[in-house]
Amino acid sequence: MAQFKMTTTGMIALASMIAFGGAVATRAQTAEKTVWTGAYTAEQATRGKAAYAASCAACHGESLAGIDVAPALTGAGFLNNWNNTSAGDLFTRIKTTMPLSAPGSLSGRTVSDIEAYVLQSNGFPAGEVALPPAAPMMSNVKIIAQKPA
Ligand code: HEC
Repeated sequence: MAQFKMTTTGMIALASMIAFGGAVATRAQTAEKTVWTGAYTAEQATRGKAAYAASCAACHGESLAGIDVAPALTGAGFLNNWNNTSAGDLFTRIKTTMPLSAPGSLSGRTVSDIEAYVLQSNGFPAGEVALPPAAPMMSNVKIIAQKPA
């Protein structure tokens, strides 16, 4: 009898764990966003534009078109490189390797502002919520080159 009770309790616990796990998975899925639903704010991109001019434009160009070995940060080639990655991946790339002359020298906030400007320059819309200042907080934001139907 005692064993039966334990088993029942165990099964209930297991069932609720499965149900809970399911709920978490569903929520994580709904929380996945794309750059098409507004991943940064307009004022953030404006700050990013100034920071880009100061730290990136010398190599990547005023209009992000690229100069010599520094590739364009807009257009089909750039979007193809980053298609199906996340805003967090792009953040980490910029934060850890750029500016090439002083990698890691920019704060998380400045990097996210610059990324907002890069997203804006690639035609992705602004939204209500700013791009956060750290990669894990935006790993749920997918970069998709083509606007989903
Ligand atoms: C001293 C020149 C220089 C500066 C300054 C610089 N970059 Fe770069 N960047 C490069 C070069 C060269 C490459 C390609 C080689 C490499 O990946 O290291 C590159 C590559 C990149 C890439 C990868 C592009 C792709 O399609 O994969 C990104 C993103 C990027 N830079 C962003 C930035 C941002 C944002 C800044 C300003 C914070 C910046 N860079 C400043 C020279 C520079």
